[in-house]
Amino acid sequence: MYNIYLENERRCIESMDTKVIRVNPKNPEEELIKEAAELIKGGKLVAFPTETVYGLGANGLDEDASSKIFIAKGRPQDNPLILHISSLEELKPLVKSIPKEAEMIAERFWPGPITMIFERSSLIPDVITAGLETVAIRMPNHPVALDLIKASGVPIAAPSANTSGKPSPTLAEHVIEDLYGKIHMIIDGGATGVGLESTVLDLTGDRPTILRPGGVTLEDLRPIIPDVALDLSIIKDGENIIPKSPGQKYRHYAPKADMTVYCGKTEDIVKAINKRAKELMEEGKKVGIMATDETKDIYEEGIVISVGTRKDKRTIAHNLFNVLRVFDEKKVHVILAEGVEFEDLGIAIMNRMKKASGGKIIDV
Ligand code: TXA
Ligand code: MG
Repeated sequence: MYNIYLENERRCIESMDTKVIRVNPKNPEEELIKEAAELIKGGKLVAFPTETVYGLGANGLDEDASSKIFIAKGRPQDNPLILHISSLEELKPLVKSIPKEAEMIAERFWPGPITMIFERSSLIPDVITAGLETVAIRMPNHPVALDLIKASGVPIAAPSANTSGKPSPTLAEHVIEDLYGKIHMIIDGGATGVGLESTVLDLTGDRPTILRPGGVTLEDLRPIIPDVALDLSIIKDGENIIPKSPGQKYRHYAPKADMTVYCGKTEDIVKAINKRAKELMEEGKKVGIMATDETKDIYEEGIVISVGTRKDKRTIAHNLFNVLRVFDEKKVHVILAEGVEFEDLGIAIMNRMKKASGGKIIDV
């Protein structure tokens, strides 16, 4: 157990002292969690690890505290926040009612990477819901997150702890890069697990609908809610299709480089990327190739990084955002990325790749 204070030069250029503490992710030190919880109770911002991505937390019942999240991230005001709880008891006062399906899903998947949308209660400040009559709630499956919520004694509002628009943080280093000097504390609990944000499931409409695909997949949910659907905006593109989840309408998860995703048979993808990489390099561009373990050795040119193995898409989800950030560090001009099949966890992976590339997906 020890505290890390970041090097001075970083501190000089920023406006606020940010304390970075490292905790044991499996068995968080009580006194460190207590220190973080005091900040939350005092209306300050604390970034903390969850099993999906790092969150930027504030007291979710405190309008002023939660407003600071939008400023620190540069987040549009019309994008509502998720409230994080640590036990089912904490759900009741936050919502009007708990549908039967929600009970079953909570029983099966909480704590875990699924957020559910409920009718909100009057306890919830408007800034959390961006004025909507509904509220997003999740119980994260990470000892640090759960202990922090418990010790704070309030639901913690937490979006992903990145600058709005950038890839979500899966390491404390990513949070430091984006938010150092803008928040009071960063709890470093090492790498997150899933690597993509939670599934957002709306239970307030006629039919249970996934608004954002994530760690809990359509297949996982079907045995419990057989009529679960994917929001049209996840399946199709088009100007007429407005996502029901406000956050889904923004360009997101985006690296600085211009990114294109290639889909199809793996061998065709490799051929197409090799050809395009050559053309771009002849134009003098620095090219990053997001490959997979199965293909990384076949590329002829460019900076090749494997994002994981096609045999287990969880590895790809886990590494995706970090690889996007690494390409930015390497200052590539262009990223040519291999897509994955649009099924099971691949739906969430392709959703993030689509947004990261601004919709530039080529079927080969
Ligand atoms: O895994 C996660 O969910 C992470 C960790 C930190 O828990 N959090 C996260 O939060 O990804 P954020 O703010 O980056 O994404 C929340 C998503 C946005 O797309 C937002 O529009 C949607 O949830 N959302 C929140 N409240 C909603 C509501 N009442 N109705 C529809 N969508 C909502
Ligand atoms: Mg986010």
